Amino acid sequence: MSNIILVDLMYGDSGKGRYVDYISQWAHTVVRTGGGANAGHTIIVDGKKIVLHLIPSGVLRSGVTCVLADGMVIDPEVLVQEIEMLGFSPIKLMISPHAHVVFPYHKELDASRENAVKNPIGTTKRGIGPCYESKAARSGVRIENYLDTPLGEKLRPFVRDTSRYLWNATRADKNILFEGAQGTFLDIDHGTYPYVTSSSTVAGGACTGSGLGPTCMDGVVGITKAYTTRVGNGPLPTELFDEVGEQIRKVGKEYGATTGRDRRVGWLDAAALRVACRLNGVDSLAITKLDVLNGINPIKVCIGYKVNGEHRDEMPLNLNELELAIPNYVGLAGFNCDFSKVKERRDLPAEARNYLSFIEGELYIPIEFISLGPDRNEAIGGNPF
Ligand code: IMP
Repeated sequence: MSNIILVDLMYGDSGKGRYVDYISQWAHTVVRTGGGANAGHTIIVDGKKIVLHLIPSGVLRSGVTCVLADGMVIDPEVLVQEIEMLGFSPIKLMISPHAHVVFPYHKELDASRENAVKNPIGTTKRGIGPCYESKAARSGVRIENYLDTPLGEKLRPFVRDTSRYLWNATRADKNILFEGAQGTFLDIDHGTYPYVTSSSTVAGGACTGSGLGPTCMDGVVGITKAYTTRVGNGPLPTELFDEVGEQIRKVGKEYGATTGRDRRVGWLDAAALRVACRLNGVDSLAITKLDVLNGINPIKVCIGYKVNGEHRDEMPLNLNELELAIPNYVGLAGFNCDFSKVKERRDLPAEARNYLSFIEGELYIPIEFISLGPDRNEAIGGNPF
């Protein structure tokens, strides 16, 4: 395999950065194909904590080329700041001329709309929706038409035909990772509309957003935390409002990297993951933050829903149905584990292995990566390329 799409199966913040850092040791190029500065990941550079919003997490490994592809909406102020902070050269970063520019008025419009309504979407106020509106209305400005401005001049050396670059890299059998942004249920077509973002966040978006055809893709890794989180408004049927939820939020440090908001926390939702796996054509799973569930007993998993007395094995996406949907939980034995001693899956206690096998059994997809802590070495997995 050489071209892999990584996609968040839920509402974003699944720890993609963690997985991308791990997989980037084998990657030649890491690509972002949609969204913009609404994403956020924290990295440590020379002992300093930095939050990046546009440059993909693959930046953590030297020798990896980062691409901001056609489907993105780019805030030049944020991008120039990130490039200058990291001291990037044009060998390391490429920007598509077709990506759209987020202007200050897009951000103002986003914020004023959110502030004006009783039931806001809970956006990041980064101008994402209004910029994609300009694009769809065919009145937007692309990066290629922005290069004569003071900020545009700083971006000019990085701009090149990224679709062609990716095609050539594919022909040369280089390993390319398409780093999805946000999450499956924030997708403009397939998410919990209208509580979604304005771009295509499912695996198919990697093709439209990069200019590579579907036959160029070799595999889809679906990533989720061992529990569920969501920032912003919209349905989260397995949400926890008790001390277990509070414990998971604290231990998992579930606070938004872009907005600092508390993330809402809930049990793992296999009925939602089932939908996500088929929407994305997932063929392998990555589970993050298993360690955060340490000491919680029992651990519940939603395996289906009751809607108007009828059993559903998939989470309904119609908001009216979702409001009425009652999760059907299975309680699994919790685990107490010194994760520092775990090097392989078989080193995990039986209860933790059972939790993972249960997820695999519900989804019929193997788990091929497990993260057990924030450090680079606290993970189990092989080379997925
Ligand atoms: P927007 O993308 O700023 O328009 O926000 C729309 C919805 O997507 C809101 O619920 C945001 O909280 C959510 N969202 C956008 N980007 C991210 C992300 O990177 N992680 C998690 N949620 C996100």
